[in-house]
Amino acid sequence: MPIIQPFRRILFAALLFAGCEQSTKQNETTTAGAADSANAAKWWKEAIIYQIYPRSFKDSDGDGVGDLKGIISKLDYIQSLGVTAVWLNPIYSSPNDDNGYDISDYRNIMKEFGTMEDFDVLLKGLHDRKIKLIMDLVVNHSSDEHEWFKQSRSSRTNQYRNYYHWWEAERGKPNYRYSLFDVNHDAWKYDSLTNSYYLHYFSRKQPDLNWENPALRKEVYGIMQFWANKGIDGFRLDAFGFAAKDTTFPAFPKGYEKNFMAYYSMVPGIHDYLKEMHREVFSKYDVMSVAEGAGNSFEDAHNLVDASRKELHMAYAFEGVDIARAEGYSIPHFKKVFSKWDSAFAKEGWISVFLANHDQARMVSRYGNDSEAYRDLSAKMLNTFILSMRGTPYLYNGDELAMTNAGFTSINDYRDMATLNEYKNQVNQKADIAAYLRKLQFECRDNGRTPFQWDASAQAGFSTGKPWINVNRNYTRINAATQEKDPNSVLNYFRKMVALRKANPVLTYGKYSLVDPEHTTVYAYTREWKGEKLLVLLNFSDKPATVKTGYALDKARVLIQNYPTSSGEQLRPYEAVIYKL
Ligand code: GLC
Repeated sequence: MPIIQPFRRILFAALLFAGCEQSTKQNETTTAGAADSANAAKWWKEAIIYQIYPRSFKDSDGDGVGDLKGIISKLDYIQSLGVTAVWLNPIYSSPNDDNGYDISDYRNIMKEFGTMEDFDVLLKGLHDRKIKLIMDLVVNHSSDEHEWFKQSRSSRTNQYRNYYHWWEAERGKPNYRYSLFDVNHDAWKYDSLTNSYYLHYFSRKQPDLNWENPALRKEVYGIMQFWANKGIDGFRLDAFGFAAKDTTFPAFPKGYEKNFMAYYSMVPGIHDYLKEMHREVFSKYDVMSVAEGAGNSFEDAHNLVDASRKELHMAYAFEGVDIARAEGYSIPHFKKVFSKWDSAFAKEGWISVFLANHDQARMVSRYGNDSEAYRDLSAKMLNTFILSMRGTPYLYNGDELAMTNAGFTSINDYRDMATLNEYKNQVNQKADIAAYLRKLQFECRDNGRTPFQWDASAQAGFSTGKPWINVNRNYTRINAATQEKDPNSVLNYFRKMVALRKANPVLTYGKYSLVDPEHTTVYAYTREWKGEKLLVLLNFSDKPATVKTGYALDKARVLIQNYPTSSGEQLRPYEAVIYKL
């Protein structure tokens, strides 16, 4: 069973931002006068979001696991990037089957990460620096160690029984459901305690919550209000596209798992739940929420994010991050995908732009060129791309340094439960294990989870202990401390590019139009707003290229460039340049 691709498709298939229309906070400033209502100025459209994977960011107590105090110690660094919001992966109590995506208490902090007091200090530290905080909310499923599940499995008549999906064994085996993470890909787990099966689209330790039960939904809104009352600024709704289910669990056609998104995502009921969530949470607080899953079509995505529907705010389409292939990818296809998503949301709705997150291997290894010769140039080029597109940019921690894939060669180096389960599955099937390991080297999400490379000291300055996952061996060459000192580093370029986006609202709101659309290696486009026009030229290849812009570039002003000089339409390998026309 080809797990990796479908797995990546959902995980990375869409994120959605939601927030309320009626701001309750007084301190919001947005760029005034953004065109029509669809393009109305909103802080979350202007946000530049930096994603922190807490487990791997900075360890303060030497246990080898990143923590909140570690993040607090790096607040000045985060501020120095110029980013305006931080998205934190889950930090709630969890037995860590799936690194926090299996929550056992939604109102508490994971022991390894610290305490609620640490959280309060972190939130204040961010807000003092005018940085917003977006929290992950994992409510398609909980941990099997959550009190709800413990109660639920204890008896068929327990009041929490219907918080989850159960199927009594005397009705026979339930119809097959594909599990993304299970070693056998079977989403039904038999539990002898009550002679029933429970449903888990992800691992056995991640039972799916029953969104069809109003009592469960009320609990979730209560949790969201708890965090919103603490003053957080947004939620990312993890795997939310899967929440609604047809609880009769009808048979799906044989082989449906190859296209399981069509069966699992956007099941009727989902929009009702989102409207209810909007009423209960988003209409009362100035929070945006980010949910994975833009559905299966532009229509689905619009139905989720169009402002008038009062559901979510922003689509996070994963088609763009699914393009990379170990053997290389088609740049025309890449251009087409990003252009098509832009045009589908040009008038209504809003999207996010990203090339990596904690579920992806490293951006520069997948979309750029991580060789010594081109790593820095191509990372700068990719960061220019993300930060010059229309839509809210998401930057994954470490990509501001051009951190690369881990280069792990043994299955023992990997920690991701989904990967280890799939490895067992491949072994059971007597598959080509060497080929599977090569595949992991390119695309396993652990590549993006190695410790943040702070400096050239032991363990890259991440921890004084043994990190939970090995540090990338290239940390002595690629690290923040070295790049701080170099004005031409990827890090300092990143800061310049962030500052450029903030200083030029045309990069947030401006109309996007392709230039020289047929070019096979150069991605060129203009951004235009209120009489201003910028031209972005990006050479996505390691070969020089000539682009036909139709503009007199000798008369245009260079705003940023990743080579010391620019020569107009002649682009060097991985050259990136933005002109003001
Ligand atoms: C989302 C998360 C991923 C997690 C999965 C199950 O896709 O991004 O990291 O494993 O949900 O919660």
